[in-house]
Amino acid sequence: MQNLTVRLEMVLEQVRAACKDPVPGRVIDVGSDHGYIAVRCLEEEIASSVICTEIHRGPAQRSEDALVEAGFEDRSEVYVTDGLKGVPLMNGDIVVIAGMGGLNIIDIISRALKDNGYHILENVTFVLQPQKSNEIVRNYLAKTGFVFEDESICYDRDIFYNCLRVVFKGICTALTDEEACYGPVLLRKYSEGDKETADYFGHLNSLFEIRQRSNPVIRSALEERKRNECQ
Ligand SMILES: C[S@@+](CC[C@H](N)C(=O)[O-])C[C@H]1O[C@@H](n2cnc3c(N)ncnc32)[C@H](O)[C@@H]1O
Repeated sequence: MQNLTVRLEMVLEQVRAACKDPVPGRVIDVGSDHGYIAVRCLEEEIASSVICTEIHRGPAQRSEDALVEAGFEDRSEVYVTDGLKGVPLMNGDIVVIAGMGGLNIIDIISRALKDNGYHILENVTFVLQPQKSNEIVRNYLAKTGFVFEDESICYDRDIFYNCLRVVFKGICTALTDEEACYGPVLLRKYSEGDKETADYFGHLNSLFEIRQRSNPVIRSALEERKRNECQ
């Protein structure tokens, strides 16, 4: 089996959770780099086929080499393209966008929304692992009509990472600043006493104490969190 980092294992776990049908469908890994996620999806039979997209030729070649070496040449395709450009989505697809900045993720999803009909998007699950700008990503997803199915966290080589699983339902909602910055699903897990989430919130609180000086959304989220914590 292809070895994965703790962070990529977390991403794969969300792909497993998204794979609800008895017959697995397609997994599309946007920004596949080394192709590790795609290889594991086929090894574990979470996917019947995989598509890797890469904006750069070098990582695309790496993905292709990994898939060929693992014997999955006939069940995989690799494209050098920007996001999902030229890859029409299909019912049941699971789209992974991991290890990228939040603004890049938003750009890729918003173009996919324009290029594919909403009826298709409703049957596609997105597994997102933003490296930064989480509050902007969550706000974008909520106001665009996505529903948060789950959010997980992990601690990998001294860094916390989070991973969202979302589906498009066309129901637009507005998040509070606290929900945007801490995550609606993680707030629920925290209130249920989840130890891992409590550790993550401890880390976020320290980070936000510094960032709130220049960011009014974070300042408001931190104040809201402190108020709710006292209740
Ligand atoms: C830091 S790596 C993360 C790789 C892998 N997804 C992971 O989580 O370990 C980001 C990769 O995304 C690719 N990338 C960045 N923007 C992209 C875009 N708009 N479309 C496709 N690939 C992109 C980069 O070339 C790079 O290989």
